[in-house]
Amino acid sequence: MSKGMTEADFTPATAAEVRQLRDQLDAQGKKLVFTNGCFDLLHAGHVRYLADARALGDAMVVALNSDASVRALKGPDRPLNNENDRAEVLCALRAVDVVVVFGDERATSLIEIIRPHVYAKGGDYTVESLNAEERAALQSVGAEIRILPLVPGRSTTATIQKMHSPQGGKLRLAVLGSGVGSNFRAIVEAIQAGKLDAEVVAAISDQKDSGFLAIAKQAGLPAHFVDPGSNPKKLGEAAQKEIFDHLERARTDVVVLAGFMRILKEPVIGHYSGRIVNVHPSLLPKHKGAHAVQDALDAGDAEAGCTVHLVTAEIDAGAILEQGRVPILSGDTATVLHDRIKQVEHVLLPKVLNEWRERGLPVR
Ligand code: GRF
Repeated sequence: MSKGMTEADFTPATAAEVRQLRDQLDAQGKKLVFTNGCFDLLHAGHVRYLADARALGDAMVVALNSDASVRALKGPDRPLNNENDRAEVLCALRAVDVVVVFGDERATSLIEIIRPHVYAKGGDYTVESLNAEERAALQSVGAEIRILPLVPGRSTTATIQKMHSPQGGKLRLAVLGSGVGSNFRAIVEAIQAGKLDAEVVAAISDQKDSGFLAIAKQAGLPAHFVDPGSNPKKLGEAAQKEIFDHLERARTDVVVLAGFMRILKEPVIGHYSGRIVNVHPSLLPKHKGAHAVQDALDAGDAEAGCTVHLVTAEIDAGAILEQGRVPILSGDTATVLHDRIKQVEHVLLPKVLNEWRERGLPVR
């Protein structure tokens, strides 16, 4: 195993060894806590999270994503540190008893082998938003699922971002939109008013004649129309790559989806993982998808709102950064309600972006 070894002979544990530990603890009526993640660049947020997780039981195993699985989750530039180094550093923490490395994107099979008593996860998840397969595995082994709050202001992504954009540098935003662009206008106005310390380095649309692009041109910002391809609903592969190239050329810090009606895939989604935000007109996780406002009315909800959240491959399911609420009034049509929601969006989105550096972004 790993604790107490010297650097030269450090090796992560095997799943079978961890299972043995679990069985020993079990026989003594003690609990093994299990958590997993990339732990690429350790910061105080990790240390505090791991200490809180360890306190849920009597020993803790950290399942560490292998280099290949970090690359698949976070893009080709990650990890910064290789899996053995990450395992060694993690294992030196007081809260960590043992580290095991796993190669799948999900920890499912490891959970099935180890059968932990407690499963801890950082608070950018809810029990509902845990991967369904992992959740099923946890339930089948009888593990108690505990979601712990994230430590605000600390994250690997925020640290990397600081390195890319040194102190004092403005946050470089690339904004994508397909529609009238009222959220984009709100961003531009917040920057002009000195309320948002950022600059728009690219405005990208899949709609040549959109209000969104007109706003960019009027404001003298770099505006790009990207031909989405022949399918009216999808964004073709060439367009995905073209958008990525625009983002890279503009040295983008954060990608903002402000009414962008197509789904981003690779290479953007992996490369900019943790740095793409979307504004959605519902109180997520309620009413995902393209008809959120009408869905809230149809459901007879008493209130609606908007959510600024991180974008992942799964639609409208990434970590929630902030939400704003509005009442639903009798006689509301979708248009009237959507306008009321947009008023809140126009304040919330620039605010979240302005806090980007300080808030530290949730990372797995
Ligand atoms: C907003 O309501 C946003 O929540 C949704 O699309 C709408 C865009 O509106 N994703 P606009 O183009 O910013 O006016």
